[in-house]
Amino acid sequence: MDSFLIKGGRPLEGDVHISGAKNSVLPIMAAALLTSEKCVIRRVPDLSDVRFMGQILESLGAKVKFDGDTVTIQASEIKGVGDYELIRKMRGSICILGPLTSRLGEAMVSLPGGCVIGARPVDLHLKGLAALGAKIQINNGYVHAAARRLKGAEVFLGGRSGPTVLGTGNVMMAATLADGVTKIESAACEPEVVDLADFLNAMGARITGAGSPTITITGVQSLHGAEHEAIPDRIETATFAIAAAATQGHVTIHGSRPEHLHAVLDKLKEAGVKVARSGATLKISRHGKLKPVDVTTLPYSGFPTDVQAQMMVLMALTPGISVITERIFESRFMHVSELARLGAEIAIEGPSAIVKGGRPLSGAPVMASDLRASAALVIAGLAAGGATQVNRVYHIDRGYEKIDDKLRQLGANIQRLEGL
Ligand code: EPZ
Repeated sequence: MDSFLIKGGRPLEGDVHISGAKNSVLPIMAAALLTSEKCVIRRVPDLSDVRFMGQILESLGAKVKFDGDTVTIQASEIKGVGDYELIRKMRGSICILGPLTSRLGEAMVSLPGGCVIGARPVDLHLKGLAALGAKIQINNGYVHAAARRLKGAEVFLGGRSGPTVLGTGNVMMAATLADGVTKIESAACEPEVVDLADFLNAMGARITGAGSPTITITGVQSLHGAEHEAIPDRIETATFAIAAAATQGHVTIHGSRPEHLHAVLDKLKEAGVKVARSGATLKISRHGKLKPVDVTTLPYSGFPTDVQAQMMVLMALTPGISVITERIFESRFMHVSELARLGAEIAIEGPSAIVKGGRPLSGAPVMASDLRASAALVIAGLAAGGATQVNRVYHIDRGYEKIDDKLRQLGANIQRLEGL
């Protein structure tokens, strides 16, 4: 397992280019199962999760070809049962269930397990498919969904912490080939849901309202192949912006969509970070002390839960008290105890972390527990004095394309130690 060795204390300086969005590309790759024709997706980041999704589609019988940042998928002859172990390992793969059930009338997909950030049930996905007429059974670790042809219906997809992103995508994909009109209420409004709807409409689907809490899908007989460029990764953008602020650097971020990040950029400005925007370019810099701000994670367009850990590092470096409240996932504070190794003072009170910021961080060996926690530990290592070793960086490779190369281009002293 690889690790990163980081010598901190250097401001990040220079230019970085944002990759395509992992959380857009995964459901878009699954959507290619809805047609037997060729689909071409561009701006696909080179990530282990993306390659994994490719293997899952191949286990269903699809042809998948990666060429640079383009993937071509042709699902001419497919079956409704994929590789149990492969699917079980990656939560995002649950979004093959909707397309397979809709196209083939039957699908069996292994239930995704929980993960360190929460139980992460899929009850809303199944509720949505059942509302479209699918018979749902759970046996031997598999979800079995069957329906001769799905039927359009109205379905409310709000859960205990609000809408579900992949659940909205799954039901939206299933409804594209259903008989009649489907209306999803309390739909997720994330940019990744809009990007998926744009791809489906390019395939001949009839979807309106994506990006709002009410999405309407008028079913069609069949879908055709399409080409699509994925949106840039707003979480990667936020991660580099916070890394620039945490190291008192000057970074120009290229190829982003700042309009997808209002809540994050607003909080950075409130803390005193200089944020300058021109088109798809963001200039992030910091002069002098920041001030503590409180953050609560919420569904889009609120502050994203996938940026909570990175923001906590910035607040740990900022003199004063800030309160960070996690409202989406019930156990997404795994990074707190590792940040304490670097000297951060953070106390957890229920869904909130009370950050007593300002104490300089000092390097130490730390353990990554999940994708975004590992990004936070890397930022902390860049800002800390001395050397930090972040272990189990396979977590970060799941969601950040060549992050160590990109950081080195910004002047960071970071080394990948292989197979430790
Ligand atoms: C997507 O996960 C993202 N993953 C997550 O990013 C992100 O944190 C999350 O949305 C929220 O923004 C991908 O897109 C691949 P949800 P998803 O369903 O769709 C509960 C990352 O770091 N819920 O919107 O799985 C659930 O437990 C990852 O890139 C139910 O109760 O998240 C959670 O508390 C991590 N029942 C809340 O809803 C359901 O059927 C939101 O989860 C589904 C979800």
